[in-house]
Amino acid sequence: MSVISQPKRGSRKISLDKMSEVFDFKMIKRLHFLDPRIGEKVRVRCLKKLKKEEYAKQNKWTTHLFGKEVEEKRVVPVEIRYIDPLIGYGVYSIEDIAPLTYVGSYLGLVRKRSRRQDKDNNYVFRYVIGPHDTPWVIDARHHGNFTRFINHSYEPNLTSKWMIHNQRAHVIFFTNKHINKGTQLTYDYGPYYWRSRSYPLSM
Ligand SMILES: C[S@@+](CC[C@H](N)C(=O)[O-])C[C@H]1O[C@@H](n2cnc3c(N)ncnc32)[C@H](O)[C@@H]1O
Repeated sequence: MSVISQPKRGSRKISLDKMSEVFDFKMIKRLHFLDPRIGEKVRVRCLKKLKKEEYAKQNKWTTHLFGKEVEEKRVVPVEIRYIDPLIGYGVYSIEDIAPLTYVGSYLGLVRKRSRRQDKDNNYVFRYVIGPHDTPWVIDARHHGNFTRFINHSYEPNLTSKWMIHNQRAHVIFFTNKHINKGTQLTYDYGPYYWRSRSYPLSM
């Protein structure tokens, strides 16, 4: 089972279900579309995207590899640990993880992008459909899952990828190498994230 440990407070461990009691956010198990009109627009765009052969082909591979895991909402064995006051928390493996293992999907509220709202929000992920940007983001500040605690690295052990499944676009993470037990999981946040923030520390 996945747990949060807070080493600075001894051996206290909290199950993922209790995360919302510790942090100011609510655990969710799927993407939330507060405005049903966005949900409908996403559905139409997903269908359109899959009419293009190149995207349909790519998506076929991704769903072949990870569709079942997304469907079953599978999660790898991880714990969330406090790192330091600058970085905050991070996600660590509690078992060895094989390459090409599905780790989880970035979950949150899908809403319209807003430059003003998003610039101070560290938990916003661009909601891509296929390889392309959309006017929407996944906001995991107040609603999300453990993936909101995954930190950035330029030499990451996770890859993020778009996937269309059940007429919904998903942002999924999978391992791009073997990960030893006790290793921090990271992905590359991309070129835009750090533009308006101080430089990332190397991990
Ligand atoms: C999505 S959150 C990741 C989880 C975060 N560490 C926490 O405790 O909630 C992104 C924020 O984590 C911190 N962070 C992530 N990767 C970092 C890195 N490589 N160097 C410094 N800070 C980092 C930054 O504050 C960033 O805005």
